Amino acid sequence: MEKPWSGRFSEETDEFVEEFTESVSFDRELALEDIAQNIAHVRTLQEAGVLSDEEAKKLIEGLKEIERNIREGRFEWKRELEDVHMNIEFELTKRIGDVGGKLHTGRSRNDQVATDERLYLKREIEEIVNLLKELRKALVRTSENSVDIVLPAYTHLQRAQPIRLAHYFLAFREAFLKDTERFMDCYRRVDELPLGSGAVAGVDFPLDRHYTAELLGFNGLVRNSIYATADRDCIAEFLFACAITGMHLSRLSEDIIIWASEEFGYLDLPDKLCTGSSIMPQKKNPDVLELIRGKTGRLYGNLVSLLTTLKGLPTAYNRDLQEDKEPLFDSVKTLKGSLIGMRKVIEGLKVREQRMYSNAGNFVLITDVANYLAQKGVPFRKAHHIAGSIVAYLIEKGKRLEEISLEELKGFSELFEEDVFLLFKPENVADRRKTYGGTSEESVLKMIEVAKREEGLS
Ligand code: ARG
Repeated sequence: MEKPWSGRFSEETDEFVEEFTESVSFDRELALEDIAQNIAHVRTLQEAGVLSDEEAKKLIEGLKEIERNIREGRFEWKRELEDVHMNIEFELTKRIGDVGGKLHTGRSRNDQVATDERLYLKREIEEIVNLLKELRKALVRTSENSVDIVLPAYTHLQRAQPIRLAHYFLAFREAFLKDTERFMDCYRRVDELPLGSGAVAGVDFPLDRHYTAELLGFNGLVRNSIYATADRDCIAEFLFACAITGMHLSRLSEDIIIWASEEFGYLDLPDKLCTGSSIMPQKKNPDVLELIRGKTGRLYGNLVSLLTTLKGLPTAYNRDLQEDKEPLFDSVKTLKGSLIGMRKVIEGLKVREQRMYSNAGNFVLITDVANYLAQKGVPFRKAHHIAGSIVAYLIEKGKRLEEISLEELKGFSELFEEDVFLLFKPENVADRRKTYGGTSEESVLKMIEVAKREEGLS
């Protein structure tokens, strides 16, 4: 088949090269963006007087018909035509004749592909932002139902201090809110039109780029034709936002996986989100969460892959840039799946509150015993030491903190009074942490109100 660029060539392309260099097998993902761009470009050429009204009409009708075929899955993609752009252009010319050859006037695939990618990113960022919002809402609803549940917070995976479970879920809601902000911030930089930059130096037809931007819904223009065609920084930035969101999803997955183990016994996962073992009949495995955790590796890999592709490139366009697409598409698909999976898990969690509560007592409360003494004037370091000795004493006696008597306590410090026993209830200890952003019932309820307002839930 004759290539659109074959004018200066005297040999057919090597079969291997055809296969090695093609991108249509994956960049057809951009087909609808490419059509939209083509139509806007035709209108801009028409506006500039480069195309007659008649020619523009023919081109647009042809493009719309191709669009319908693509949507119906009835478009035949040809590897010999390399990429999505040449497939569509070639087919257009086949259908409407020579005037199809005018489509690519005043344009290069270099500004074309950059434009398609930005259109694609705008659409996908919007979707991801919506999925993040759904997940955050699920976390807020779960928080509302878990204010009264008290469990130990862990540091170093050792029981640390009692918290309200709502506080835990709100922590992740906060993280996903920051992730959302990162995507929205990235969107502002994506939202600039590269088209009209040509291959590298700009275009020698009088194209009104502002008009094209308006037609395609871009907020502004990429202001330098070299930068417009050379760089993929906004894709790298997007992949970073995906990677960091994946990191949050992965840590949340890890917590839930551990908490759903028999050893912890804090949570039950719904059967419909788990899978069994082909050999061990008792197993109910948290595969969705494991895969969310596992797929985070791809999200990191895709970011590193693109950054590595970019780092040594001579300015401006090089074919290496074609390698930006698979990591991009993979991250979009991976992250969207993980966000949906996590929302389903959060909505389906069953909490075993008794089990959580029973682990929130005993030595988890000891920080507050030290603080009790510190509040009575004992230097904190000394109070910490006394509380530590109480722990050692109780371990030796095989007793829990709740079982100690006032007399025994007085043996450690004369300052202990009857009111110290109030500290032996995890919920009381949690509620002493009334600072803004802390775990007391008061603080948590306030944060739920804020979150509900921000999510449009109240
Ligand atoms: N398929 C190419 C890509 O994804 C399109 C741009 C090709 N430009 C070129 N001069 N060969 O980067």
